[in-house]
Amino acid sequence: MSVIKILPDIYSVGVIDWDVRHFHGHTYTTKRGTTYNAYLIVDEKTVLIDTVYGNFGAELIENITQIIPVEKIDYVIANHVEIDHSGALPEILKLSPKAKVIGTEKCKEGLYRHYYGNWNFQVVKTADKLNLGKRTLTFIEAPMIHWPDSMFSYCPEEELLLPNDAFGQHYATSERFDDEVDQCLLMEEAKKYYANILWPLSGLIQKKIEDLQKMNFKIKMIAPSHGVIWRKDPMKIINAYLSWAKNETKPKVVIVYETMWGATEKMARRLAAGISEAGVEVKIFNIASSDRTEVLTEMLDAKGFLFGSSTHDNDMLPSLAAFMELFKGLKPKNRFSACFGSYGWAGGAVKEIEEVVKIAGVKIVQPGLSIKYLPDDGELKKCYEYGKEFAQKVKGG
Ligand code: FEO
Repeated sequence: MSVIKILPDIYSVGVIDWDVRHFHGHTYTTKRGTTYNAYLIVDEKTVLIDTVYGNFGAELIENITQIIPVEKIDYVIANHVEIDHSGALPEILKLSPKAKVIGTEKCKEGLYRHYYGNWNFQVVKTADKLNLGKRTLTFIEAPMIHWPDSMFSYCPEEELLLPNDAFGQHYATSERFDDEVDQCLLMEEAKKYYANILWPLSGLIQKKIEDLQKMNFKIKMIAPSHGVIWRKDPMKIINAYLSWAKNETKPKVVIVYETMWGATEKMARRLAAGISEAGVEVKIFNIASSDRTEVLTEMLDAKGFLFGSSTHDNDMLPSLAAFMELFKGLKPKNRFSACFGSYGWAGGAVKEIEEVVKIAGVKIVQPGLSIKYLPDDGELKKCYEYGKEFAQKVKGG
């Protein structure tokens, strides 16, 4: 990524990772790659805000050098410990040993446990300020959005919010601003990021946004650490976050299933037909051939979830089990669910899925629907009616 001036004397100096296809291990599919954004403010003091993933340290240094020699950096703001933002920090501090690192108490601890560096570190708390000359930075602790160390930085003179991961997208693009990219694609990637990383932290996110609003921060630009910068309409992403954080949904059902010989698939399709007949939007995913990251994204604004599996060894099939493991951690609020599946003799899948749904804290609103071997016409009709009944509950909210 070439250097871009985002505001007078403020530069985007991060990098584009076009090729990354998995994030956080294999929990998140990044089919559009990502960016690791870092920002340089050149004032009477020079500040680097975050760094990049360590593999891209040389490119970050090259970018900074286009503006100033790296040894001129006075401060490095570490808004977040995770290595996609701190990986190049040791390299930067080698070139600029006098630079002071600024972050939260948890950041100090976390950086030490990652790099064991004996660095000049200043711990800051919410509302602490750093004078840069013509500008200041105000710090806002944002614990668990999404690590304990997380912090936002805010420049009031430019009305610029630097919230690190929050409001980001895993979206590699040479265009650096929201108004330069396809809006549907941008919001899809922002939604995907929220669903897969931030969903379980919704209560904290809602409170943090409300805190910012109470602090009367004017926000003209949001420069996150992944994806594009919001300059055209920062309220668009703030309002989207508020809606997601409040677990606002629409009448929509997502069916996620896995099938062994097609019987559970037949059930899923008849359930969907009943839901659709009731006038409710429905999406079906065979999880064995679907992208988990995208399925969870579809679930973010859906009121109802149906989960189904054939029984195998008295349990659900393994692709659905892996998906349910991810789902369990998201703890979605204000949702309805029900479970279904076919079996040969003893059964067990439906009960096992229901156990996970309960752990996730999602309300099961209909008894599980189990059918022996292949559903006959009468049983298919039962699936259809079951779907209709579920859809009515979803519509009733
Ligand atoms: Fe982009 Fe939590 O790191």
